[in-house]
Amino acid sequence: MGATALEKTVHGGEPGEALHVPVLLREVISLVAPRPGGVYVDGTVGLGGHSAAILERIQPGGLLLGIDRDGEALEKASGRLKAFGGSFRPVHDNYKNLPLALNRLGIAAVDGILLDMGVSSWQLTSEERGFSFQSDARLDMRMDRTQARTAADVVNETPEGELADIIYRFGEERLSRRIAAAIAEARCEAPITRCSQLAGIVSRAVPRHGFGRGRQRIHPATRTFQALRIAVNGELDGLEDFLAEACGALKPGGRLVVIAFHSLEDRIVKRAFRRLAGQCVCDAPPELCQCPREASAKVLTSRPRTPGRDELDSNPRARSARLRAVEKS
Ligand SMILES: C[S@@+](CC[C@H](N)C(=O)[O-])C[C@H]1O[C@@H](n2cnc3c(N)ncnc32)[C@H](O)[C@@H]1O
Repeated sequence: MGATALEKTVHGGEPGEALHVPVLLREVISLVAPRPGGVYVDGTVGLGGHSAAILERIQPGGLLLGIDRDGEALEKASGRLKAFGGSFRPVHDNYKNLPLALNRLGIAAVDGILLDMGVSSWQLTSEERGFSFQSDARLDMRMDRTQARTAADVVNETPEGELADIIYRFGEERLSRRIAAAIAEARCEAPITRCSQLAGIVSRAVPRHGFGRGRQRIHPATRTFQALRIAVNGELDGLEDFLAEACGALKPGGRLVVIAFHSLEDRIVKRAFRRLAGQCVCDAPPELCQCPREASAKVLTSRPRTPGRDELDSNPRARSARLRAVEKS
């Protein structure tokens, strides 16, 4: 039996094949507010869940530019969105190159941009992509597999002090020095090439008490794996500047909607949006603040939108999602 339209929108595959469930779908649609004939960008197409819902609402005559740096994900999404014909234009690129992509296509400004950052459930659970500490796959973690540097390169080639900084900064891991020392010791014996091998080294380096109890319910390697993924893919590089550029690519009244999955990302989004709205982003007392007060957008989400109980029950992976949106003035 074939999947219903809703099941396909939600999962990206046949029933039972939950490739990726788009998070905060209702909020995304209400804030992007796609309308027939409009031009939109999904900067993180993934398996195309949000894209499908946008495409349904921009007919007739609309265009959705669908960007993803993961060629395989884009291929899957393109297959799934085939029914929308030329309304869906797939672009294999980093969304940070959006201004160039728009320029190439002769598009001066768009009605809305969506970024649903991070990785999809499909990427996380695909053995060979090497994102998960629960797998025995090669330590890879590249979203774009045409990129040369893998997580194994970072783990085996980065000096110990720098590795500790990466784990501390991108993983917010207070045991970063201890973990980096354990990695440095282990790689002297043999290169660290597999996810399970790294997960074991990290687990043995941190104290046993706490894991599985209270606040420490996460696997001891969770933060280290997050840090390496961010480093391998340069996820936070230039993000704040890019958000300002993306807002610049909107028509007046156009909206930029961003979903972040960890506090580092969300802090950057919050700060960029405050800056766009002409609000203070510094810690100086008001009389010394020199933040530019010119607003080019208004913040639509004074507090981030988060998934409700129903969504969390059906999709626990949505738990850390934080959605923020601005509207170009
Ligand atoms: C959370 S998933 C998006 C899921 C999608 N909204 C859906 O409903 O299926 C994030 C996707 O963004 C892609 N991605 C992450 N950072 C990117 C970047 N800087 N440029 C382009 N794509 C990126 C990842 O490869 C992944 O496919």
